[in-house]
Amino acid sequence: MKVLVTGGAGYVGSVLIPRLLDRGYRVDVVDLFWFGNHLPEQVGILKKDIFYLTTEDLGAYDQVIFLAGLSNDPMAEYSPSKNFIFNAAAPAYLAYIAKAAGVKRYIYASSCSVYGYTENELYDESRPVSSSYPYGISKLQGEQAVMQLADETFSVISLRKGTISGYSPRMRFDLIVNTMFRSAMKERLININNPSIWRPLLSIDDAATAYIRALEANPRLSGIFNIASGNYTVGEVGDLVRAALEERLGLHTKMHIKYIQDFRNYKVSTEKARNVLSFHPKDDVKSIVNNLMDNMEKCSDWDNPLYSNITTFKQMENGIELYSIAGVVSPETNAGALVGSTSR
Ligand SMILES: NC(=O)c1ccc[n+]([C@@H]2O[C@H](COP(=O)([O-])OP(=O)(O)OC[C@H]3O[C@@H](n4cnc5c(N)ncnc54)[C@H](O)[C@@H]3O)[C@@H](O)[C@H]2O)c1
Repeated sequence: MKVLVTGGAGYVGSVLIPRLLDRGYRVDVVDLFWFGNHLPEQVGILKKDIFYLTTEDLGAYDQVIFLAGLSNDPMAEYSPSKNFIFNAAAPAYLAYIAKAAGVKRYIYASSCSVYGYTENELYDESRPVSSSYPYGISKLQGEQAVMQLADETFSVISLRKGTISGYSPRMRFDLIVNTMFRSAMKERLININNPSIWRPLLSIDDAATAYIRALEANPRLSGIFNIASGNYTVGEVGDLVRAALEERLGLHTKMHIKYIQDFRNYKVSTEKARNVLSFHPKDDVKSIVNNLMDNMEKCSDWDNPLYSNITTFKQMENGIELYSIAGVVSPETNAGALVGSTSR
C-alpha cells in the first residue's frame, strides 16, 4: 500500500512514519519542513505547500494522511488568517483532490480542542462541539469539511487527538508533559497554569498506533474517533511528572501553582475507538516521562528554538528561516509517483 503523509515531517509524522515503513508500507511526504527533516531515507519527500498539489499528484496513493497546518493555539492566535487557511481550507482542498484522484481513504488529524470548555462530563463523539478560539474553530471546520466527503468509495476517518507528549526526532517542548519535563530538568521547577483544568493526554506512541489502526481499518469504515491515553487534571499531571523524575533520577522539583483562566477544559471517552478501531492505548504519564528520559540526550539543548512551534513560526513570519532544506530530495530506493512526477 502506498501512503502520502502531508505534514509528515512534523512531531507526529516523525514517529508515525518509521512505524509505517516497519509494517511494509511505502510512504511519501509533502511538507514545508518548517522544523527540519528527521525522516528515514526510504521516504520520498517533497517540499511543497499542500495547495500546490493536484489531482494528478495524488493518483498513485491508496491513502492520504493529513498532519499539516498550524498545530497549536499560540500559532493560531499569532496568525489567525494563516490558521484558517492552513487548518480549515487545506484539509478540505486535499480531501477534495484525493477523492477526485480515486484515493480510497483520507485520515484527518483532528483535535479534542473542538470540545472547547466543558464541565464535569465525559464527552463522546456524539456530543455537541463548540470552540470560540481560532485553533479550535479551524480544526472543527477542517473536520466538518473532510467528513462530508465520505461515501462508500471514499473512507474518511477523523482522529480527535488529546494533547500529545513524548519524544519525537522532531522534538516539541510546547506540549504539556514535555513542557513540564523540560522545566523540571532545566530549572527544577514545574509550572501548573491551572490545576483543576482537565485534558485528555496522548503518548506519541499511542498516537502513532491510532493512525495505524485507522489506516488498517475495514475499508468501508468512516467516522470520528476520540483518541487519548487517559484523562487527567493539569495538577495531577504535574504530580505524576514530578514523581516519575524523583523515582528514576532522584530529582527534587518545586511546583508553582497558578490559577490562569483557560478556555479549554474537557475529558473524553475513547470507547468508540476501542470498540471500532481496536485502539487500546498502552501509555500513561509515567511511561511518557520514562520515554522522555530514555531519549534525553537527543534533545537536551532545551532552548533550541525549533522545539517551540511559536518561536519558529514567529521567526518565519519575520522572514527568518531557522531550518532550510534544499529543494526536493527523492531517494531512489522508494521515490513515489508524486516525487517522481515533480520536476527537480
Ligand atoms: N501535537 C499535538 O498534541 C496534537 C494534538 C491534536 C491534534 N494535532 C494535529 O496533528 C497534526 C500534527 O501535529 P504535529 O504536532 O506533528 O505538528 P507539527 O507542527 O510538528 O508539524 C506540522 C507539519 O506540517 C507542515 N506544514 C504546515 N502547513 C503545511 C502546508 N500548508 N503544506 C505542507 N506542509 C505544511 C510543517 O512544516 C510541519 O512539518 C496537526 O494538524 C495538529 O493540529 C496535534
